Amino acid sequence: MEDSRIEEIKRTLKKHNQEHLLNFYENLNEEKKEMLLNQIENIDFDLMDDLYKETKKQNFLKKDDKIEPIEYLDKYKLNDMYKYYENIGKKAIEEGKLAVVTMAGGQGTRLGHNGPKGTYDIGLDSHKSLFELLCDSIKEKNKKYNITIPWFIMTSKENNEATIQFFEKNKFFGYEKNKNIFFFMQGELPMIDTEGKILINEDGLIKLAANGHGGIYEALVKNGMTEKMKQNGIEWVFIGGVDNCLVKMVDPVLMGIAIDKKVTAAGKSVVKANPKEKVGVFCKKNGRPNVIEYTEISEEMAEQVDDNGQLLYGESHILCNLFSVSAIERMGRDPLPYHSAFKKATYIDVKGNKVVPETPNAYKFEAFLFDAFGELDDMAILRVKREEEFAPVKNATGVDSPETARELYKNFYKL
Ligand code: UTP
Repeated sequence: MEDSRIEEIKRTLKKHNQEHLLNFYENLNEEKKEMLLNQIENIDFDLMDDLYKETKKQNFLKKDDKIEPIEYLDKYKLNDMYKYYENIGKKAIEEGKLAVVTMAGGQGTRLGHNGPKGTYDIGLDSHKSLFELLCDSIKEKNKKYNITIPWFIMTSKENNEATIQFFEKNKFFGYEKNKNIFFFMQGELPMIDTEGKILINEDGLIKLAANGHGGIYEALVKNGMTEKMKQNGIEWVFIGGVDNCLVKMVDPVLMGIAIDKKVTAAGKSVVKANPKEKVGVFCKKNGRPNVIEYTEISEEMAEQVDDNGQLLYGESHILCNLFSVSAIERMGRDPLPYHSAFKKATYIDVKGNKVVPETPNAYKFEAFLFDAFGELDDMAILRVKREEEFAPVKNATGVDSPETARELYKNFYKL
C-alpha cells in the first residue's frame, strides 16, 4: 500500500520534472516523511507548470479589454446626503450586521520585521502594535454604537502561531477568542526557482508561501467564516490590511451608500497624488468594477483629465473595501489568477546545502483581492481623505514607512 503510494508520487514528480523533492526523503523522521508526502499530494502540479510559464509574461490586461473610468462619490461633497447615508449605515451597525476582517497573512518582506507585521511597533509614545492600533479604532466604534463588532483575522501558516501567541499575551485586547475574535488561515503555494523547480525548505519540506491577499475570499469560505457570519446575522464585511494604521473599518457612510445603492460592494479610494504614483486605481473593465495596476495603465491613460482637470483614473485603491457576505461567497467560488513576484528565498539545494541568497532567486505566486471585483455587478466607490484614512507601513525607511505612518497617525489623532 505504502509502496504504491510512493510509486504514484514518483510518477507524478517525474512527469512534472520535480523528482528532486524526494531527494532527502530518507533523512526525514516518520512524521516529516508523512508531511512531505501529504504536501506533494496536495500540490496542483499542472497549475505550477502553468504558473512557471506565466512568469515570462505578466500582463493581465488583454488587448480587447475595455477600460473606462468608474463613478465615485466624494465623502466630503455629499452635503445633505452625508447624514442620510450615515443614518442608514448606523442603523445596520447597531443591528449587528457588520463584521471586520484584517488581512494579516503577508510576509512583510519590505519592512523586514522579525515577526507578524501586525505585531510591529511604529514608534508611538504608547508603543502600541499595529494590531492594537487597529483594535483601538474598532473599540472606539463599539462604544459609540454600543455593540461588539466581530473581528476576523486572516493569518498564514507561517505566522499563525506567532500571531495568536501575541494576542494571547495581550489578552486579545479585551476581545474574546472564538466569541467575537476569530483567526483563520489563508492558502499557500510552493515557491519555484528560475528553472521552475519547486524549492525545498530548511526543514526538508516544501517551501510554501501565502497565496496573496486574493486568498481572502476562499479562506473565509473554506474555513467556515462566512457560515459563522451568516449564523450571527452578519450581512456586511469590511476587509482591510493590517498595515494601514489609519484604516477606518467601521464607517457608517460607506455602509449606508452600499445599502442605499443596492450594490454588493463598496470601496474607498484616495486621490492619486500624481499620474506617476505607483498605485492601482479603480476603473471599469468590460463594464465591471476593477482595479488597474500602475504597471498596466498606459501613460496616456494615467494622465487623462476631466473637464475640471481631475485625473480620470485617479481613484487609488487602498485595500479598504466592504462586501456583502454573499458577494464574498461568490468571489470565493472560483480561483483567481496568480501574479508572480520575484523574491529572496532561503532553500536547500540539490546537494543538501542551505542557500541564503542575497538577491531574488525564486518566484512566489499571489492572487490579488481586486481581481475578484469583476465578479461583482457593481461597486460603489467613496473617495476619502488620504490624511484621515491611509497611513501604510510598507518599507523600513522612506515612503510608506513607520516614520511616515507615525506622523500621519499623530497628526490625525493630534498626539
Ligand atoms: P502587501 O501586498 O503590502 O504585502 O500586503 P506584505 O506581506 O505586507 O509586504 P511585502 O510585500 O512582503 O513587503 C497588503 C496587505 O495584505 C496582507 C498583508 O498582511 C497586508 O495587510 N496580505 C498580503 C495577506 O494577508 N496575505 C498575503 O498573502 C499577502
